[in-house]
Amino acid sequence: MNLKVEFIASAYNLDQLPKLRLPEIVLCGRSNVGKSSLLNTISAGKAVAKVSSTPGKTESVNYFLCEGKFYLVDLPGYGYANRDKKTVESWGKMIDMYFRNSGQIKRAIHLIDSRHPAQTSDIDLEVYFSNLNLPSFLVLTKSDKLNQSEKSASLKLVKSTYEAASNPENYQFFSSTNGDGKDQLIKRILHLAVK
Ligand code: GTP
Ligand code: MG
Repeated sequence: MNLKVEFIASAYNLDQLPKLRLPEIVLCGRSNVGKSSLLNTISAGKAVAKVSSTPGKTESVNYFLCEGKFYLVDLPGYGYANRDKKTVESWGKMIDMYFRNSGQIKRAIHLIDSRHPAQTSDIDLEVYFSNLNLPSFLVLTKSDKLNQSEKSASLKLVKSTYEAASNPENYQFFSSTNGDGKDQLIKRILHLAVK
């Protein structure tokens, strides 16, 4: 199963958001967690979002039209160190403006590295969403790196850390490398977009 995804526009400020307003599902999470890879995986490589091992590769708000009906929005990662403070601050303001002004965001898909315990920035982002009254869906990335018992331990930690994970419909494992969770995620995204 694949989604039909096409790149529409990159916005570097709010004036550049697409004129055509549609429901939006936003991909967010720390730099390097696998946002752009996820987008490419669910579209069978057609979305061609830029993937890099250099943190901070995606610097704009990137709009992808999905199934001709809604946008998947690829956001720049946060928490990367190789930046001067000013850049980080202006990046934060742009994203904050985006979240407050879009008016179309149905759901935030928050990507979390399944291999590591929650970082402060992961928790901060969940608090931010909860203040915006924006529900989040947790995608536990890079699950190809975990064996079965490590997956169980990771799940246990996620359930005890994130309020969103109190509902089993709000999280799942995912791997762009071996396709783990791909069909499940596509179904979830389609469901969330029309809700
Ligand atoms: P920024 O745009 O900097 O915020 O990063 P991003 O979240 O978009 O991450 P990106 O998709 O660019 O991936 C970062 C690195 O992780 C790349 O080297 C990918 O190849 C690797 N990666 C992404 N997904 C997976 C996965 O499922 N498994 C493994 N093993 N590696 C992955
Ligand atoms: Mg990216």
